[in-house]
Amino acid sequence: MRQTLSYRISFFAGLLSLWTLCQSSANRCAISYEVADCSHLKLTQVPDDLPTNITVLNLTHNQLRRLPPANFTRYSQLRILDGGFNSISKLESELCQKLPLLQVLNLQHNELSHLSDKTFIFCRNLTELHLMSNSIQKIQNNPFKDLKNLIKLDLAHNGLSSTKLGTELQLPHLHELSLANNKIRALRREELEFLGNSSLTNLELSSNQIKEFSPGCFHAIGKLFGLSLNNAQLGPNLVEKLCLELANTSIWHLSLSNTQLYRTSNMTFFGLKETNLTMLDLSYNSLNMITNDSFAWLPHLKYFNLEYNNIEHLSSRSFYGLFNVRYLNLKRFFAKQSTSLAALPKIDDFSFQCLKYLEDLNMEDNNIPGIKSNMFTGLRSLKYLRLSSSFTSLPVLTNETFSSLAHSPLLMLNLTRNKISKIESGAFIWLGHLQILDLGINEIGQELTGQEWQGLGNIIEIYLSFNRYLQLSSNSFALVPSLRRLMLRRVACRNVDVSPSPFHSLHNLTVLDLSNNNIANINEAMLEGLGKLEILDLQHNNLARLWKRANPGGAVYFLKSLRHLHILNLQSNGFDEIPEEVFKDLSELKSIDLGLNNLNILPPFIFDHQISLKSLNLQKNLITSVEKDIFGPPFKNLVNLDMRFNPFDCTCESIAWFANWINGTHTNISGLSDDYLCNTPAQYHGVPITLFDVSTCKDSAPFQLLFILTTTTLLLFIVTVLLAHFEGWRISFYWKVSVHRILGFKEVDNKAEQFEYAAYVIHAHKDKDWVWQHFSSMEENDPSLKFCLEERDFEAGALELEAIVNSIRRSRKIIFVVTQNLLQDLLCKRFKVHHAVQQAIEQNLDSIILVFLEEIPDYKLNHALCLRRGMFKSRCILSWPVQKERTSAFHHKLQVALGSRNSVL
Ligand SMILES: *[C@@H]1O[C@H](CO)[C@@H](O)[C@H](O)[C@H]1NC(C)=O
Ligand SMILES: *[C@@H]1O[C@H](CO)[C@@H](O)[C@H](O)[C@H]1NC(C)=O
Ligand SMILES: *[C@@H]1O[C@H](CO)[C@@H](O)[C@H](O)[C@H]1NC(C)=O
Ligand SMILES: *[C@@H]1O[C@H](CO)[C@@H](O)[C@H](O)[C@H]1NC(C)=O
Ligand SMILES: *[C@@H]1O[C@H](CO)[C@@H](O)[C@H](O)[C@H]1NC(C)=O
Ligand SMILES: *[C@@H]1O[C@H](CO)[C@@H](O)[C@H](O)[C@H]1NC(C)=O
Ligand SMILES: *[C@@H]1O[C@H](CO)[C@@H](O)[C@H](O)[C@H]1NC(C)=O
Ligand SMILES: *[C@@H]1O[C@H](CO)[C@@H](O)[C@H](O)[C@H]1NC(C)=O
Repeated sequence: MRQTLSYRISFFAGLLSLWTLCQSSANRCAISYEVADCSHLKLTQVPDDLPTNITVLNLTHNQLRRLPPANFTRYSQLRILDGGFNSISKLESELCQKLPLLQVLNLQHNELSHLSDKTFIFCRNLTELHLMSNSIQKIQNNPFKDLKNLIKLDLAHNGLSSTKLGTELQLPHLHELSLANNKIRALRREELEFLGNSSLTNLELSSNQIKEFSPGCFHAIGKLFGLSLNNAQLGPNLVEKLCLELANTSIWHLSLSNTQLYRTSNMTFFGLKETNLTMLDLSYNSLNMITNDSFAWLPHLKYFNLEYNNIEHLSSRSFYGLFNVRYLNLKRFFAKQSTSLAALPKIDDFSFQCLKYLEDLNMEDNNIPGIKSNMFTGLRSLKYLRLSSSFTSLPVLTNETFSSLAHSPLLMLNLTRNKISKIESGAFIWLGHLQILDLGINEIGQELTGQEWQGLGNIIEIYLSFNRYLQLSSNSFALVPSLRRLMLRRVACRNVDVSPSPFHSLHNLTVLDLSNNNIANINEAMLEGLGKLEILDLQHNNLARLWKRANPGGAVYFLKSLRHLHILNLQSNGFDEIPEEVFKDLSELKSIDLGLNNLNILPPFIFDHQISLKSLNLQKNLITSVEKDIFGPPFKNLVNLDMRFNPFDCTCESIAWFANWINGTHTNISGLSDDYLCNTPAQYHGVPITLFDVSTCKDSAPFQLLFILTTTTLLLFIVTVLLAHFEGWRISFYWKVSVHRILGFKEVDNKAEQFEYAAYVIHAHKDKDWVWQHFSSMEENDPSLKFCLEERDFEAGALELEAIVNSIRRSRKIIFVVTQNLLQDLLCKRFKVHHAVQQAIEQNLDSIILVFLEEIPDYKLNHALCLRRGMFKSRCILSWPVQKERTSAFHHKLQVALGSRNSVL
């Protein structure tokens, strides 16, 4: 019982300490470089344990109700205090007293409702005060009077009904004042007079329901450079009134977006004629009609935004007077054909003729029916023309289409998404300055003869991607040798293997995109001469065959000569083979993408020349092993590696080196723990390769060597022992023979005449009768034959041993008559046989003939006489036949053996 209790107590104590640990760590602010970030910590009090030298304190998104000045005593170095998104309802003046250096105070999204004259009395160094989204409905007296250095004051999203923030002149340095999203209904002179010394770059009054501009209201402000009145239901009349009030102010930037200005008259902007207005935003106004000369009062305007309106007709005097406009945004400017009743917008010729200084014209996303012959006439400074998705359809670009741009120094023409289906010869002949031509995402389907690009002498980039089909020829790009970037992605490129190559004249090309074309045939010369090419995109084609060994004519080395290539994309080409030399010339390559192919085994050293490789992608192939031979060199300087989703073989030989390398590298390898899984062996299937235990492979190399050495030694030993046991005689025998030969003992054969006998017959004494009978009969049959038979031919009285030696010397051959008797005959065994063999070795092996009268096993022969059948040639081994009728055959064989030349082996 007691034990359980104490156990429980310690358990809960542990839980408690864990909880306190969690609590305290949850409240810990992140501190770095004098910045304390205490946001999102559910704080109800200001932390008192932060370093005293912090200059930025972020207390946003907590549950603070107050900012007690005493709590800030220790943070006197604060420059920025962000207390946004809390429930602060009261601000004490002493706060700034404790923070004399405070420059930025942010109290947005709190519950402040009242600001007194004292609130900011000590905040003299404050430059920014954010009080957006509080509940301040009325400013009484002069709470901001002491903020002499304030530059930015944000009071948006409060319930203010007046612009009046004070009764006397103040805020001399204020530049930005936001009163957006309040309940201000009128701008009155007396309510803005407190700004009489200020010069505002932006007075933000958007999203108020302003209905009244009283006389002289803007003149009450010291200087007004910028005014935003977006999202106010002004309408044409109030805008006209507003402009009159702005007359003779220093207004420079006016934003009237979404103000229901659905039409302009020739009086709307009349008041602005006495200003230097340079930026005007009239976007999102449903502007339907621009009366002639409406903008005639804006000669200083440079940036004019008219996007998202609803214009049906543009006439030659619509833009009259905009002599200084540099940038004109007409995106979605014209009426969209939303209902069947609405007519397509009408653009008269010469509509832009006044815009002499216009440099950038954006007409994207419109429904213009077509290009008229003088549509762009007069745009003498135009450099950028954005016509993406501008026309309902622009089926054919003829040599007249862009004639109105003949005098524009156009650098960029964007014609994407216009349903263009054909480019005729000379379509761009007018655009001699053009550098960038974007014809992507259209429906072009044609043969490119090259004449399409007539006159584009300065072109740098042609973007033709995403079209229906392009049939190439040798001259397709012959007229544009200045081209540096050519994009031909997903254009059903046909005929790329023509010779000479369609790209042969593009010596300046740095980027070529031929991806997504299902190209299967290209030749080795396609990219020849493109020495400056840096980026080559060939992904999503069908080039696998070109690199197969079995390809008729061998592998096609289409990458050779691209010495400056930096980025090569070969994804999704079905490659299952790569020739070893294919990347040899690409020594500047920084990125190779070979992902989504069928590569299994890469040839060793294939990446050896890619010493500056930074990115290698081999994801989704069939690679099983990652070996040092292949990947060592390219991995050296790699920054990004992607080999996800390969069926790795997690054995020491296949993966150990890779697993080791991963451990020590700084290369980015994303998805390492999820997407690099072992496929084999079975017990590791599905296991991340990062969990592969390299230590089991550590000493495998020396161990293997040791293993091989020991096994070999052991095997050699066994073989030697076995050999010595079973064939030792043979070895020592042939050894002796060889020594004799090497030492130069001559064959004795040629001195045949020195032999007295044809053969010396060695036999057991007991067999003398048989020998006598058979050998003398042979001598009778052949007079030239003369055997040395001991009993007959030995000189009487001669010492027997000496006689034997002499006789053997004088005999050409030696015949052993092998019987059981011979094996037991002592003299034969000890002396004759030894001597005979000695002589045989000295002379020759053929000189011995064995005649078996009975069957004697080899081991017995060896045991008794140290002879084996294997020492002699088969013709020198004879057996006495049992059958009588074969006797003559035996004789014949013996004669052959006797006549045979003495030669070794
Ligand atoms: C700020 O104070 C902390 C200790 O409170 C100290 O470690 C740090 O070096 C100080 N930083 C500077 C810039 O003085
Ligand atoms: C304070 O933190 C919030 C949220 O993390 C962030 O949006 C805000 O910009 C920060 N304030 C300052 C002054 O850095
Ligand atoms: C903050 O100040 C209040 C008194 O104004 C005090 O009771 C409290 O302990 C202080 N908190 C910290 C964290 O200093
Ligand atoms: C404003 O800051 C400066 C240092 O930047 C300091 O010398 C001065 O006393 C501060 N002013 C006030 C009113 O605290
Ligand atoms: C417009 O600018 C000119 C010189 O840039 C200046 O002389 C003139 O006073 C300005 N007009 C207004 C109304 O500010
Ligand atoms: C404005 O247009 C009307 C005709 O619609 C014309 O009578 C009047 O003179 C024009 N006003 C100015 C200032 O051009
Ligand atoms: C435009 O092409 C037509 C034939 O299609 C030709 O008659 C005419 O001369 C060409 N115009 C120019 C300016 O090249
Ligand atoms: C052409 O315009 C389209 C649509 O705005 C844009 O995506 C594309 O990048 C532009 N082309 C060029 C070359 O700027």
